[in-house]
Amino acid sequence: MRDQLPNHRPALILAPMQDVTDLPFMRVIARRGAPDWFVTEYFRVHPDSCPHPYILRSILENETGRPVFAQMIGRDLPSLVRTAKQLAELPIAGIDLNLGCPAPIVCRKNAGGGLLRDPQEINRLLGALREAIPGLLTVKTRVGYAHEAEFPALLEIFRSHGIDGLTIHGRTVQERYQTPVHPDCVHLAVATMSCPVIANGNIVDVATGLAYLDQSAAAGLMIGRGAIRNPWIFAQLAAHFDGTTPPAPTHRDLLEYVTELYEEIARETRKFLPAAHVQRMKKTLAYISHGLAGSFEHDMRRANSPEDFFRICRAHLDHPTPLPALPPADSKLFCGFESLLRSNELD
Ligand SMILES: Cc1cc2nc3c(=O)[nH]c(=O)nc-3n(C[C@H](O)[C@H](O)[C@H](O)COP(=O)(O)O)c2cc1C
Repeated sequence: MRDQLPNHRPALILAPMQDVTDLPFMRVIARRGAPDWFVTEYFRVHPDSCPHPYILRSILENETGRPVFAQMIGRDLPSLVRTAKQLAELPIAGIDLNLGCPAPIVCRKNAGGGLLRDPQEINRLLGALREAIPGLLTVKTRVGYAHEAEFPALLEIFRSHGIDGLTIHGRTVQERYQTPVHPDCVHLAVATMSCPVIANGNIVDVATGLAYLDQSAAAGLMIGRGAIRNPWIFAQLAAHFDGTTPPAPTHRDLLEYVTELYEEIARETRKFLPAAHVQRMKKTLAYISHGLAGSFEHDMRRANSPEDFFRICRAHLDHPTPLPALPPADSKLFCGFESLLRSNELD
């Protein structure tokens, strides 16, 4: 991962998000300021799996000019090794192992975040993957399953396998998305790991990104939901580090983004069904409409047809008012983001 780091500023990375960060999303984001690299949504790996063709497209047809890491989730060692070898044949920057997904169905199978309950199994998997693949091997983890006190022992295992990069969503699995993040855990990783460490979780604007960097000394920032909400966030952060003028998007810019996303995803959908497409878009819109003035969020939940969808978007977004930098302070969606800012005030 060291080769992917820009030499003049912290790295900026789009977080993998299942059913969101596909090829059309990557394209639309890249037009507003590409991250330094992408990570695919996870490839589910089990004895009968083969890499999902739709996710493969974000590797094979990636025209953003930025590298992409392929992420795997699973617990079956021979299948993980087999899949890693297959993926390593493709134009990827490296293989990333998911040790963070909190979905109960995933954790029950002892995959994703569920693996954090079994450090010796992680030890075995990383040892085998390291031996099997010649390229970069990175890990995306949470800071423990039940408690962040588990983290030092996990770091010890990551370190012993000489992984090439570590991204940390600074919450435990049990904290899901409901708490502030733990920048001190990311800081501990920076102090003890020799590979680049990337901080993730709750970055919603330039100030929260800078606060997370301040408190963790991470080599970069990975941003997920904050980039759905504000696709200019990578350009804004890059402008901050470069001392140039950051983009200041308006509601009308947001309308253009939503329209582009709608059309790009529609274009890549094999069997386009208007009502189903609107339902899919509404999942993404939940992050975009959240906290905007008026009844946009409420009205969008009731859209059933493309006509409804665009009528509601135009009614609420077709004006030049600047977008708010932050979600609402009591946001249930970006829970605890403000604590990053508060911690900095205490310094
Ligand atoms: C809809 C959704 C899908 C996600 N899918 C993945 C995934 O496929 N792989 C992964 O490592 N993390 C996944 N995540 C977690 C994000 O990559 C990220 O760690 C998390 O959202 C915290 O970062 P944020 O606050 O910037 O969103 C997903 C998150 C969301 C909201």
